[in-house]
Amino acid sequence: MDKPQREPLVEVRNLKTQFFLDEGTVHAVDGADFTLYRGETLGVVGESGCGKSVTARSILRIVPRPGRITQGEILYHRRSRRNGGDVTEVIDLTTLDERGPEIRSIRGAEISMVFQEPMTSLSPVHTLGSQIMEAILLHQEVSNEEAKELSVEMLQRVGMPQPRRTVDRYPHELSGGMRQRGMIAMALSCQPSLLIADEPTTALDVTTEAQILQLMRGLQSDLGMAIMFITHNLGVIAQMTEHVIVMYLGKVVEEASVDNIFYNPKHPYTEALLRSIPRVGRKSRERLESIKGTVPDPYNIPPGCPYHPRCNYFMPGRCDVIEPPLFDVGTEHRTRCLLYGDPESLKTTE
Ligand SMILES: Nc1ncnc2c1ncn2[C@@H]1O[C@H](COP(=O)(O)OP(=O)(O)OP(=O)(O)O)[C@@H](O)[C@H]1O
Ligand SMILES: [Mg+2]
Repeated sequence: MDKPQREPLVEVRNLKTQFFLDEGTVHAVDGADFTLYRGETLGVVGESGCGKSVTARSILRIVPRPGRITQGEILYHRRSRRNGGDVTEVIDLTTLDERGPEIRSIRGAEISMVFQEPMTSLSPVHTLGSQIMEAILLHQEVSNEEAKELSVEMLQRVGMPQPRRTVDRYPHELSGGMRQRGMIAMALSCQPSLLIADEPTTALDVTTEAQILQLMRGLQSDLGMAIMFITHNLGVIAQMTEHVIVMYLGKVVEEASVDNIFYNPKHPYTEALLRSIPRVGRKSRERLESIKGTVPDPYNIPPGCPYHPRCNYFMPGRCDVIEPPLFDVGTEHRTRCLLYGDPESLKTTE
């Protein structure tokens, strides 16, 4: 059977997002390129500080000051029903006013986000139900009663115990797992085409984490949404995603199917990340290798390939001079490393 055609939902092209501080400029996202496809889950991995959350915030246009997008495009393929048919228009989200009506009609409705710590995004002074209702009323033409009914339904859907009662509870009256379910209910209340989940389960115990992950999988196939799943946990990546991007210092250094990431990694950084995680079946006494060195500070990104100071395959005079482009290394498999090609040869074929 032929694989169905993948349909782009959000194309991120050469995205740069920087923070302008007195100490200097933080190159948080430094030319990121990747595509989210309709209905698919994309895993995003990389060490702390590599720009995963800032990339997510850039898509939603909620980068906090003194940060801003300085370059690139975020092309959102918006599908709407018009004149009885499906129409798709392409909107470059980087060009929108971050407080304007257009992004506000997309944010929280068509693209929504679940954060790591729900207490930072739930208001402590409003009930969970009123917060979900607010999201619904903002984007859908329904009455207050209907919005409340929808909130209860959504809470039921995310497996909240006693949803009719929980809807009137305040966040501090709920456990961590219940708050996270509440956040997911709120994020999904308008049936987004993209859910961005930024470490959504790291604060939870293993059992609750497993339940929430299973829940997200189920909701994804019911609602047909795409998920951008950011996590440090490669086990979660294996369980949740079909495609993966590996980020290092604000760049995508490898992009592949989840199988290729695990069984056929190409970039030395991906290899190192894989060596640093526990594997099922590995003897517990075996020591895990940590990646040599630390992530350089993003004020001063090393020239050439930013990973070269830590790389086991460092080629002096090349890796510290030439910035590697993304080379094709297989079907839907690309990597940014000079082991896999010569940038000069790319120029002649263009
Ligand atoms: N509000 C801010 N002001 C200044 N610098 C920031 C701000 N937010 C993020 N940064 C910087 O941008 C870079 C990327 O941060 P980001 O939060 O995207 O990393 P991350 O990959 O999500 O890390 P983690 O895995 O720890 O969540 C870091 O160097 C960080 O210090
Ligand atoms: Mg983060």
